[in-house]
Parts: sequence; structure tokens; C-alpha cells
Amino acid sequence: MKLTILGGGGFRVPLVYDALLGDHAEGRVNQVTLYDPDAGRLTAIARVLADQAEGVPDAPVVAATQDLAEALRGADFVFCAIRVGGLDGRAADERIALDEGVLGQETVGAGGIAYGLRTVPVAWDIARRIAQLAPDAWVINFTNPAGLVTEAMARYLGDRVIGICDSPVGLGRRMTRALGGAPSARVWVDYVGLNHLGWVRGLRIDGRDELPRLLADGEALESFEEGRLFGSEWIRSLGAVPNEYLYYYYFNRETVRAYREAAQTRGAFLRDQQEAFYSRAADPECAAWASWDRTRAEREATYMAESRLAAGAGARDEADLETGGGYERVALSLMRAIARDERATLILNVANRGALSVLDADAVIEVPCLVDANGAHPVSVDPLPGHAAGLVSAVKAVEREVLAAAESGSRSRAVKAFALHPLVDSVSVADRLLTGYLVAHPGLAYLKG
Ligand code: G6P
Ligand code: MN
Repeated sequence: MKLTILGGGGFRVPLVYDALLGDHAEGRVNQVTLYDPDAGRLTAIARVLADQAEGVPDAPVVAATQDLAEALRGADFVFCAIRVGGLDGRAADERIALDEGVLGQETVGAGGIAYGLRTVPVAWDIARRIAQLAPDAWVINFTNPAGLVTEAMARYLGDRVIGICDSPVGLGRRMTRALGGAPSARVWVDYVGLNHLGWVRGLRIDGRDELPRLLADGEALESFEEGRLFGSEWIRSLGAVPNEYLYYYYFNRETVRAYREAAQTRGAFLRDQQEAFYSRAADPECAAWASWDRTRAEREATYMAESRLAAGAGARDEADLETGGGYERVALSLMRAIARDERATLILNVANRGALSVLDADAVIEVPCLVDANGAHPVSVDPLPGHAAGLVSAVKAVEREVLAAAESGSRSRAVKAFALHPLVDSVSVADRLLTGYLVAHPGLAYLKG
């Protein structure tokens, strides 16, 4: 099996390789091709992977290329893990939004829209190339905003593109742990929404819903990250546990303040941190894997620091740091289920197809799916309560405006996308945001009129 990673010089590629190194079964990935336009980043990451492979006799063979066609030919799986505009772009997304007093997070609010507007045209090009050169490949999209980018790519790839995120799985794991623990095979997490905009409405262990027990136990409820972020009172009011990214909606003022007061935005912090890593790793004498791992640990420990600070939620739990994000494990389980027809249930970003009644069939949603050799099939779920259905519909409408703006190149469609977002509080703000983003991002020059 050949796996091609687009964005192969990206910082998190060694996590994927680590997961692959642990897979010795038949039909596993034995060939990894890293594609990246940046030769320096490719060399650095290839060095880390070489360190990781040392002493592992059946380690997947790694190739690196700057030629997209060469990377795609013969691929069984393609990971799309690109970052259009780099971390500099992410930092600009945040700064411009904060200067207008709104949130610029890479997936939520104004920042997510700006990032989406410059990523969608690139994702379309890539999807077209994959459809031509590797029409049978399964494409796993990691690129944020993951739901929007997956929906964009589906235009050319249909159900062969599947989006992934580790936050729902992490939430389910933390809730299960707070309930005393159970092997994941016995747990069903009733999670649904859009990417970074979903809720756990039930958690069944051996068929019995244990969420009421968790809601009743304040200590258990605030023993894990989302419980501390949202507080037991608000979680009980909702009757569901929100994805951590909903903090940006439910406590928007506090987050905007914390972001504005922070010495650096998340994007700027990661940009500086990664610049230092890639320049160290350029030296052939550098212990690349060790240096990468220190950088990774620091990134994990500071994840969502502003939200935790605003909520007084304290440091991250050791157990969450140990397992890391875990998204590479979701990707590996997904590939296994498809390649070996090993049935699995995973929370994924796929076309709705009637699973969630409030959205149309083509809307990409985040929902439990049954996966087998034919792909990921969403499980139909109970309707969302009005407040959640409203948010999901509003944000999906914004995503559709982003797609329409990218398609038409229309500036006013782009303004509409910003203006309709629940976290952008004025049409004039939307207009100024776009003006600022157009100056900062050459990749948005296609928006005219
Ligand atoms: C979580 C999110 C991802 C995000 C990652 C890293 O896993 O679900 O979408 O890419 O965290 O976040 P960071 O702020 O470190 O880039
Ligand atoms: Mn995510």
C-alpha cells in the first residue's frame, strides 16, 4: 500500500509515521511518499522519519518529492495536510480579526473564513489532480477548516474524500475515563455536528447511556478538560457536552479578551517555534527526532492555552498529553477499515446523506460512521435541539458562502460569508475584515468586484 502525504514536510507527519511503524499486519502501508513544495521542510521531516525508522526492520520506505504528479501516481491513500499561506498566514488571520475585536482562530469565526477562502481554490486544484492521477485512491483530509475543505474536495472526489479530526474522539475518551473507564469497543459516543462544532448528547457503555450519571457528578464532570472549560452548570443546562471549540461561541468575549491580552497569538507562537525547529533540523548533525519531539511536547502543552486561561481551567491533563492529539490513530484505523474491510465505527467528516435532518444531503457533517471497504457511511442520529440546529445551520450557510465566493471570485460573496457568521457582529466589520485580509494574503487576489 502506498500512502502519499500532501504537506509531507509538515510538522505533524512524524506522528503519522509513528502510527504506521506500529502496524505490522498484512495489507499495511509499506511505502510513504512525502510531497511538499518546500525542499527544506521535506529534508527536515525526512530526517526525523529516518531516526524513527532506525532499528525497525519492516519500517515503511519513505520517498520525498516536490512533484505532485509523481507523488500521486499509484497512491492507495492520500492524506491532504496542507497549510495554504503557512503559519505566517495563520498569524495574520488572527491579528487582523483581533484588531477588529473578533476572533481569528484558524477554524472558527473570521479566521476560519479567511483561511477557508484561500484554501478552497487550492483544495479544488488538488482534488482535480487526484481524480485524474489516482482515481481509485481514498483521500483523508486533515486540512483545516476540515469540514469545509472536505466538502470542497468532495466536488471532484465524491465519497472518496473523508475528513478527520481528533477532538470528538478525544472528548469521548476523556468522558469515558471520567466515568471510570471502559474499552472503546464497548463505548458508543452519540456525537454530532460540524467539525469543531459538535456535542456529545449521550455516551453508551454496553448499551446503557451513562451521560446522566456523568452530569449528576460535578466532580467527575470537572475532572476533564471540556468539563473544566464549560463548567458543570452550563453543561447541565445544555444536557450535552460540547466540543472544546464551542468555547469560542459560548464564552466569546472572554476568549477574545484572552487572545488580545496574550503576548502572541497561537499562530505566531507556532510560527516561531517551527521556524526554530526547521532551522535546527537543517543541520545534518542535529538529533532531528529528539528536537522534533521537544517541539511537539511544547506545542501539546500549550494547546488552547488562551481558552484554559479564560476559563481558569488550569494545565492540560497528563493523560491527554501522553496520547497526544491521536488524530494519526483515527487516520490509521480508517485506512485499516478500508484496506482490510475491517468494520470500524469512527467519528468522521462525511456527506450527511440524511443522517442529520436539519442539513441537506451534500452537507459535510461530523458524525459516527460505519467504515468498511466501501468507505464511511454516516449513522443516522437524533435531531439536534433548536439551539444547536440553529448554530449548525448558520455555520453551514457561512461555509456555503465561502464556497460560492471561491467559485465566483466575488468580493461581495466573501463579505457575506464573514457577515453571516454568528461571531462577526456587524456587516461593516465584515467588510473591513475582508479588506484587511486582501492586503495580507496574496492568495485572496482572486476575489474581485
Ligand atoms: C486539535 C484540532 C486540530 C488542530 C490541532 C492542533 O487536534 O482538532 O484541528 O489542528 O489540535 O492545534 P494547534 O493549535 O496546535 O495547531
Ligand atoms: Mn480538528
